[in-house]
Amino acid sequence: MRKNGILFALFISIVLVLAACGTGSEKANSDGDGKKKLRVVTDAAYAPFEYMDKDKIIGFDVDIFTAAAEEAGYDFEIVNVGWDPLFAELENGTADVGLSAITINDDRLKSYDFSVPYFESTNKILAPEGTDIKKAADLTDKTVAVQSGTTGADAVDALLGNGNEKVKKFENNNLAILEMKNQGADAVVADNAVLEAYAKNNPQENFIVIEDKEGFESEYYGFMFPKDSEMEADLSKGLNAIFDNGKYAEIYKEWFGQDPDIENLKA
Ligand code: ARG
Repeated sequence: MRKNGILFALFISIVLVLAACGTGSEKANSDGDGKKKLRVVTDAAYAPFEYMDKDKIIGFDVDIFTAAAEEAGYDFEIVNVGWDPLFAELENGTADVGLSAITINDDRLKSYDFSVPYFESTNKILAPEGTDIKKAADLTDKTVAVQSGTTGADAVDALLGNGNEKVKKFENNNLAILEMKNQGADAVVADNAVLEAYAKNNPQENFIVIEDKEGFESEYYGFMFPKDSEMEADLSKGLNAIFDNGKYAEIYKEWFGQDPDIENLKA
């Protein structure tokens, strides 16, 4: 009798699981109001913007995207595919959005669309304490580690010359920093907030962050889309909504401990 009861319970559980799987796959690509579930791709090796906390992708970008997508009524999943694959996925249309502290620039605008800007950034230099590097131009006779395909890599290529073997390029920024830690490079060039967070969170490394306002341009991050994506307008609207309703400022303060300059982003 008891055995039958258990078998019956098992049978019911299997039926329920199968039913759940069925509706799951039907709904995989759209939510209730017919909007597509977005595949958002990232390179989660860029704290504090996107990074792994155990098996979870977290960061400022994740919180901002979540808030903007909620405003726009999109369901989504964020997948850690890596930097180069992110561009490839948007190019061949297997992903809907690139979310990765991605700088809006003319080169990328040829192949992709961007949302309105949501963060201002600039490249800076990370180097061991006691370095004689004071500005970008001092990098010309140094070995510099960068993440390949970034604006930091472009800036260093421009300074040292394309193809210069003293520019060491890595698949992600953490590997570039590791190279310097292992004394394979004199400096790393990357986005200021990333280098500042690294130096602050790893005081035992004795790295300093060097700013050069003349040497590096001001940049703006956007969500990146395949060309002519219909979602761009919705998510830009979502961003504008969180600029206006205080949500953006709240998230910014959580991650950076200060108020954002939203007017500068909108300008
Ligand atoms: N902002 C720079 C760029 O767009 C670096 C971004 C790198 N992002 C990342 N998640 N690894 O080129």
